[in-house]
Amino acid sequence: MSFNALKEKSTPLEKQLRNWHEITKKPFNKTEADCYTRTRQILMNGIEIEAWNFKHNFSRTTTDNEVQEFLAVSKRIEDAQQTTVNWLTPADQSVLETTLGYEQVAVEMTAWMAQNEPDEYVKETFDFGLLEDFDHLYRYSQWAYMEHGISPNDIVQGNTDVILGRPTQYHHNCNIVRLRKPYDKATASPQTKVNIYTLVSGEQQTHNFYAEHGMQYGSQCIRETYAEIKDVEEEHVTMYESLIDPTESWYEKLLLHEFTEVCTYYTCMVDEVDDRLKKIWEMFLDFEIGHLKIAAEIFEKREKRDAEEVIGTDIVIPCRFKSQKEYVKKVLMSEIQKRVTGNKGYADIKDLPEDWASYAIQKKANEEGSPTENVINIITAAKGRDLVIADEELKSNQAKLLEKGLEKVQAPDTVTVEETKKMMKEEEIIHEC
Ligand SMILES: [Fe+2]
Ligand SMILES: [Fe+2]
Ligand SMILES: [Fe+2]
Ligand SMILES: [Fe+2]
Repeated sequence: MSFNALKEKSTPLEKQLRNWHEITKKPFNKTEADCYTRTRQILMNGIEIEAWNFKHNFSRTTTDNEVQEFLAVSKRIEDAQQTTVNWLTPADQSVLETTLGYEQVAVEMTAWMAQNEPDEYVKETFDFGLLEDFDHLYRYSQWAYMEHGISPNDIVQGNTDVILGRPTQYHHNCNIVRLRKPYDKATASPQTKVNIYTLVSGEQQTHNFYAEHGMQYGSQCIRETYAEIKDVEEEHVTMYESLIDPTESWYEKLLLHEFTEVCTYYTCMVDEVDDRLKKIWEMFLDFEIGHLKIAAEIFEKREKRDAEEVIGTDIVIPCRFKSQKEYVKKVLMSEIQKRVTGNKGYADIKDLPEDWASYAIQKKANEEGSPTENVINIITAAKGRDLVIADEELKSNQAKLLEKGLEKVQAPDTVTVEETKKMMKEEEIIHEC
């Protein structure tokens, strides 16, 4: 069934003000919530942060009075939406538990997008980033177990595997090497644009969450792990945002931001299993269609073009959360050795030039060790091995995968292939899958 947002009913902007009680809703229950309710809530917080932040940046660059006024009024609405969404987080959900939720968002959503992305080059970039967030989930899971005594399955509920991906120590690149080729705004499909706008928002908020919360742990090793992975999320924002055509005007970007909000809330509303949250997604979808109609009017008046040339005539689904184990396994087995190259392409480790710019970054960043390697050493010292939750095929390939994913130069505390083989013989820590 087609859904042309510009033709659907909406809540007028002047009816979107809410009182404090309406803004601040009851949190979900962390032990009862479906993991994909949590991922939707995490994602939509990131979407609202980006909507609010973009509007402030736009305001600082425009002399267009009508636009200034729309931005002034709607910024407050975006901000209140952010409060509602983020504050659904229960107070007893620890920083590490929330962190596992953030990485589950990245894994499941990037995998969904890769399979629903019409542009081959953009898809390749999604597959590349996917293996990095997948590895973050594995590293943070070790801490969640050691620090809070929880199984990662308390959060990911058996839907996402927990095993090494491309080792995090190799996610540190020269940021110039991370830059990708932008899509062409004239020919790219709305799906491509919405996929990227959504993913940039998610990655940016992941970075912000680690930046604001990593210091809440007293353990220096945990703090360093957050510092290391936060830096990777910064690279992810750089990588994904560089896919956006920089020649889109501010008006076009405004239109695409509102359309992205419409598409993400629409998907959340259709997919949500919790009736209470479904109502929130539905209410905010109606708000966003209201924003979109005004953004489309502004765009059409200034650019003398039809908004449908940019956003099409149907909704786009950017964030359908479901288990992606099979897809992730396929990418993991075939692409763990892949790296970004300076010509905005990709290469296997063995084909990298001696002067690959990221070597210098990795050498400096990891000169005294990589905290994400150290965590495996620490759990191994305590328990004999790492915590892994995956099917037998993946588990039996752990050492082989690591061998493929390691570069010649390694952080001094790198867990070796031999050590991994030894670990694999030890009894597993959690036997619940
Ligand atoms: Fe919003
Ligand atoms: Fe990540
Ligand atoms: Fe990421
Ligand atoms: Fe909006």
